[in-house]
Amino acid sequence: MALQERTRRSLLRLRHQLEQDIKPQDLMDHMISDGVITVDEEEKVRIKPTRKDQAAALIELLLRKDDRSFISFYNALVKETYYDLAKPLYQDLPGVSFNGRKGSFDSSETSVQIMLSEGGVPQRPVVFVSRPELLNQVRMKLDLLQKDAGGWVTVFGMAGSGKSVLAAEAVRDQRLIEECFPNGIHWLSIGQLDKSDLLVKIQSLCFRLEQNLDSQSQQRPPTSLDEAKERLRFLMLRRFPRSLLILDDIWDSSVLKVFDIHCRILLTTRNRSLTDSVSGAKYEVEVESGLDDRKALEILALYTKMNQNALPVEARDIVKECKGSPLVVSLIGALLKDKPNRWDYYLRQLRQKQFKRIRKSSSYDYDALDQAMAASIEVLPDEHRELYKDLTVLQKDVKIPAKILCVLWDLEPEEVEDILQEFVNKSLLFVDNNSRLNLYYLHDLQLDFLVESCIRSCSRWTGSG
Ligand SMILES: Nc1ncnc2c1ncn2[C@@H]1O[C@H](COP(=O)(O)OP(=O)(O)OP(=O)(O)O)[C@@H](O)[C@H]1O
Ligand SMILES: [Mg+2]
Repeated sequence: MALQERTRRSLLRLRHQLEQDIKPQDLMDHMISDGVITVDEEEKVRIKPTRKDQAAALIELLLRKDDRSFISFYNALVKETYYDLAKPLYQDLPGVSFNGRKGSFDSSETSVQIMLSEGGVPQRPVVFVSRPELLNQVRMKLDLLQKDAGGWVTVFGMAGSGKSVLAAEAVRDQRLIEECFPNGIHWLSIGQLDKSDLLVKIQSLCFRLEQNLDSQSQQRPPTSLDEAKERLRFLMLRRFPRSLLILDDIWDSSVLKVFDIHCRILLTTRNRSLTDSVSGAKYEVEVESGLDDRKALEILALYTKMNQNALPVEARDIVKECKGSPLVVSLIGALLKDKPNRWDYYLRQLRQKQFKRIRKSSSYDYDALDQAMAASIEVLPDEHRELYKDLTVLQKDVKIPAKILCVLWDLEPEEVEDILQEFVNKSLLFVDNNSRLNLYYLHDLQLDFLVESCIRSCSRWTGSG
């Protein structure tokens, strides 16, 4: 589907100004993660000698693309606070809008797609397997939010378990949008950010929402978090009451306080207890850390374009080694797609815990697997981080009661339980409460990662390696 003529003309009209002002690299990062340009295309733009040449090449590229790419470009401009450039493009943004000003919601599949693109909801990963049970759970809880004046659905689970993919998939549903969130769905990637970055994100969101209103309602961007919260409260409650905010990858409950404005929110996080300090109805969905074998093998089969039955024996071992982690299976699948003869090699890398070499897919937030896992440990308070590292004493597939750790840590049972609960809440540890007493265990990947990082820091300490 090519760019609509109207959209094309709008881009050509603004071409000169865009070439003068934009920093293409910043915009392309967003567009890559939206999946509308490839890393190769980015490279072709990046090798141009000057910034202006790069900008011109990016616009040339856009002119050859489709409406969704244009929406992604527009969203990137807003995210990078090029409000003056975004404004004139908005008029010609393809398709529907949330309050009907640009034509009402015509409930076709394309409208849903365009609406989600406008809200910045990421596309499906290229290789995707369905997780129907989890998906239903999230959708059911989103349905429940409708009844409440405002509320939160927390999707939580360990690094790379597929929370963000699941959240995006949950809202790709025409019925849900029509019945529950006809005013729009807005995706905000949060991550670990400071107050000023958070302010910029909310400014962009307010800008996006205000573009949907009459031009008189356009105001200067809010200048403090308090002001931003009030502006957002007004917009969400008065102008877009039946919309959903998706806050992806929240680390800190102080971020949630800014959104504590009685609207409807879906959030993804590794930390289960974040919504304790905010008000409104609360629901949660736990994302299990691994896919079942069949689904995990399906990912490998899809990447390598093989029949699942024809996969080599290493495929099962790879799945077993990473306990079906969607992230790891996908990373390895993507590597095998390019180097189909390397099943054995990647299996060995995994067994030797060479996490650094297992590198990211373009839309994932971290460069490599070890970064994704290290992030959760880094945010622990110092004293707890040291205690967590002691968990290297655990063995694979062995679950232990808290009292063993009382001995190891030399702490009272109550203290130990509190600490373990903190690890569990942050998806750094798992608990099996099916038996009489709680039994704790690590995911294989976490254990491997801990052992590996301990070896690394010990060898640094002793000067070897
Ligand atoms: N249903 C799925 N089908 C195929 N691949 C998936 C699926 N879910 C996740 N993945 C793969 O796993 C990767 C990580 O998924 P995702 O970003 O959703 O994890 P996450 O739980 O949000 O991780 P983090 O805690 O780091 O934010 C994706 O980039 C994708 O490659
Ligand atoms: Mg995520």
